[in-house]
Amino acid sequence: MRPLVFYRSTVGKKIVMAVTGLILIGFVIVHMLDVTLAFRGPDAVNALGRFLHGTADELLWVVRVILLAAVILHIDAAWQLTRIARAARPTGYAERRPQVSTLAARTMRWGGVLLLVFIVFHLLHLTTGTLHPSFQPGDVYANLVTGFRVWPVALFYIAAMVALGLHLYHGAWSSVRTLGLTRPAANPFHRPLAIVIAVAVAVGFALVPLAVLVGWLR
Ligand code: HEM
Repeated sequence: MRPLVFYRSTVGKKIVMAVTGLILIGFVIVHMLDVTLAFRGPDAVNALGRFLHGTADELLWVVRVILLAAVILHIDAAWQLTRIARAARPTGYAERRPQVSTLAARTMRWGGVLLLVFIVFHLLHLTTGTLHPSFQPGDVYANLVTGFRVWPVALFYIAAMVALGLHLYHGAWSSVRTLGLTRPAANPFHRPLAIVIAVAVAVGFALVPLAVLVGWLR
């Protein structure tokens, strides 16, 4: 099947959502581990920054292109699947009491929008420094500490990480189901694994702004 024909089908869009979602999950796990190097002090996190922007610069660009493509496809498939679902049921239910769906499942769309807003802000804040009060190129540690001393910014990051945790919990589980990598209920480990990934990523990230707020990182 040609790629466009595949993408036009609902199943094709769901598979694209699942595959791009798994790529993004892989990125956030690695990025969270990078960012928590801040707890080892300025040298550790700044050395990684220097390595990424120096020795690994070409690789960084490859990763950026893959991530950008994954984000665009993920959002486009989500948008189109939402339109298909709305067109199939234009009037909505008079009463909607989900029996088995979780909070995470019900917040996928709005949580996704919040994450998109977060990513745009985050890049302007800690990558380009445009929205950072005292950005110093190359000093990742100082940028984290001075950036999160602005408490509304730190709280926004923490709130976004709660949204990320919920999105990951449902996304990690449903992408594996979409791809048929596990049979329904045949693998009792898949939801605990989704919980572990979601909690570890959200808490790991959120600890950084939290640690600055309480004065642990300074
Ligand atoms: C508390 C949470 C987070 C913190 C403290 C954080 C920290 C950072 C820092 C310090 C950088 C700049 C690194 C450098 O220039 O060497 C960065 C870049 C980046 N972050 Fe985060 N991050 C967080 C969450 C996230 C999340 C949840 C995502 C995606 C969903 C994300 C996506 C990115 C991307 C795409 C870049 C740009 C990489 C590049 O192209 O240079 N970050 N982050």
